[in-house]
Amino acid sequence: MYSYYFNSILKEAMMVLTPMTEAQFQHYLAESIPAYAQDKIESGQWAAAQALALATQSMQESLPQGLATPDNYLYTMQNGPSNTVVGMLWIAAQQRGERKVAYVYDVIVHAAHRRQGHASAAFVALEQEVLALGLSGIGLHVFAHNTAAHALYLKLGYAATNINMFKVLADA
Ligand SMILES: CC(C)(COP(=O)(O)OP(=O)(O)OC[C@H]1O[C@@H](n2cnc3c(N)ncnc32)[C@H](O)[C@@H]1OP(=O)(O)O)[C@@H](O)C(=O)NCCC(=O)NCCS
Repeated sequence: MYSYYFNSILKEAMMVLTPMTEAQFQHYLAESIPAYAQDKIESGQWAAAQALALATQSMQESLPQGLATPDNYLYTMQNGPSNTVVGMLWIAAQQRGERKVAYVYDVIVHAAHRRQGHASAAFVALEQEVLALGLSGIGLHVFAHNTAAHALYLKLGYAATNINMFKVLADA
């Protein structure tokens, strides 16, 4: 029990969110656009033939000025004494009703580093970043088939606000 809490406090202390470099951003684009297309195919929203083009367009619309796009913050997750890059996080500041909040556009822990508490520690670190930006909450979207991410967010105290539903009636 005590070692569980000690380990998670240690993980949080060793996690640093660092602004992404241009080289890291280009690497991220090359991996994330096909992955996003695949998520959309698996969730039944996009046809396979158009998915890559739609994902590319979506990324250009979200980040028209790349890393310099106003109100967008892309970080690498760095961990441990040697600051190993274990993943990335992308948030955007958005007005939601009365509140200005952070919306999580993407979070990835690289496969070799998963299930070691890095995403949990990064979200704890993110809360301080978000408060420092003058934002009062964190919103995010998770695909229903992404059970790992869903479990992560529930554990971190996030609650569902909307549930989108869809029924396939014919092939796209
Ligand atoms: C989702 C993701 C970010 C989790 O990162 P992680 O560093 O492995 O997560 P953590 O180690 O902090 O896990 C915290 C908790 O989340 C849940 N969780 C994480 N991965 C899980 C999995 N594969 N299956 C079930 N639960 C999982 C568990 O409750 C876990 O706690 P536990 O290990 O004590 O059981 C990572 O799997 C990932 O990058 N996936 C691909 C990209 C993605 O899906 N991003 C989310 C988009 S919404």
